[in-house]
Amino acid sequence: MYVCLCNGLTDSQIRGAIASGASRPKEVYAACGCNAQCGCCTGTMLTILRDQPAQSTQAASGN
Ligand code: FES
Repeated sequence: MYVCLCNGLTDSQIRGAIASGASRPKEVYAACGCNAQCGCCTGTMLTILRDQPAQSTQAASGN
């Protein structure tokens, strides 16, 4: 499903960027080699980020 029409980004591309460490929309755009244009997709992107947090956080629960 297309999430960002300006850049042609799909939810799978966004999930892939998050899995690679992107934790903010800006980092998702960067990981996909583009930048925010109209910003309409940011809300959906934040929802995906909340649904699938970046791997670097949450996992560290030592001691
Ligand atoms: S839809 Fe993503 S920047 Fe416009």
